[in-house]
Amino acid sequence: MEFKKRILVTGGAGFIGSHVVRLFVNKYPDCQIVNFDKLTYAGNLENLKDVEHAENYVFVKGDIVSLDDVRSVFEKFHISDVIHLAAESHVDRSIEGPMDFVMTNVVGTVNLLQAAKDAWKEGEHVFHHVSTDEVYGSLGEEGLFMETTPYDPRSPYSASKASSDHFVSAFHHTYGLPVKMSNCSNNYGSHHFPEKLIPLMIHNIVNKKPLPVYGKGENIRDWLWVEDHARAIDTIFHKGRVGESYNVGGLNEWTNIELVRFLCKMMDQKLGRSEGESEELITYVTDRKGHDLRYAIDSTKLETELGWTPSITFEEGLDKTVDWYLNNEDWVQKVTSGSYQDYYLQMYQDR
Ligand code: NAD
Ligand code: TYD
Repeated sequence: MEFKKRILVTGGAGFIGSHVVRLFVNKYPDCQIVNFDKLTYAGNLENLKDVEHAENYVFVKGDIVSLDDVRSVFEKFHISDVIHLAAESHVDRSIEGPMDFVMTNVVGTVNLLQAAKDAWKEGEHVFHHVSTDEVYGSLGEEGLFMETTPYDPRSPYSASKASSDHFVSAFHHTYGLPVKMSNCSNNYGSHHFPEKLIPLMIHNIVNKKPLPVYGKGENIRDWLWVEDHARAIDTIFHKGRVGESYNVGGLNEWTNIELVRFLCKMMDQKLGRSEGESEELITYVTDRKGHDLRYAIDSTKLETELGWTPSITFEEGLDKTVDWYLNNEDWVQKVTSGSYQDYYLQMYQDR
């Protein structure tokens, strides 16, 4: 079959990537979706079981840090567009070991840019780079991140993402590569690896394990349902202006402790536990080094220019998310066996 576009989605087996792949495979049968993923601890092909046999879907195992791997997938599939999500994504891991973040997030991104620049001599193309609001640094009690907010990354993770964003801009300005960028707030939803706050807390509540809240739990994050982020990527990829970046967020700020308490209440009800039972599991632990106080996004540009808005409330999204975890114990079991146990001990034992 002759496809209209052949879109390389990097990191398509990860949390957000799998939602993007699923959306594109189902919505654009005339486009081939090439999922290129190294399958690190965070990548899992089980996340895509429902689309793995689709005619317009193909999986290629590969590493963006290898320019050979990247060039060969471009050549083999005549890649016309890229949606780049592959990354090392967890701040705590970046504090323990920054170098994997430099390699994948910076070197890997430059390899993709280089391959796209060399392959795309004519015709219409898009290189959509998916990034984070953490590149803007940390907010005080007031204000929101705008697209014009100066970059001020403070963790090794955000420093590596900021660097990758700068390379994407540089390839646009220097070589005219047709790039688009999006910077999104914290996502939550199904298939989220239980190292991040929400899935870790859900997993520990189910298992009646301590709920490790860093510091006083007063740090604030702005949470967005992952499927709304995938819709935003679809919108920006198709309708966004070349060379522009768009902030994506839900205007949905929660302190960590309020959020954990809310989850406890919701899950006590769902699990038939007595009121307040899960809250007793809350344990305050040593704070994260350099812990950013507050993230909050202004997505007016995306809303007014391209007409995107979040589709559901946080309460609805969290309800769906908790149900997904309760109904997919096999998935949780698989991803939390083996190396997850070592990770958990290393991060949380004696903390
Ligand atoms: P994730 O950690 O769940 O998944 C990352 C995926 O990338 C995995 O499938 C992994 O196997 C793959 N990968 C890692 N290194 C690779 C390499 N060298 N070559 C090929 N594949 C590799 O991450 P996520 O939460 O889905 O985030 C996806 C993207 O969105 C990242 O770029 C992240 O910075 C960005 N982002 C995430 C959030 C969030 O809340 N999770 C918010 C804003 C932006
Ligand atoms: P996380 O999900 O790691 O996302 P990010 O650091 O990229 O925003 O963490 C969200 C917030 O939750 C952050 O303020 C750190 C805090 N946190 C805890 O309090 N306990 C935990 O076990 C984890 C993983 C995070």
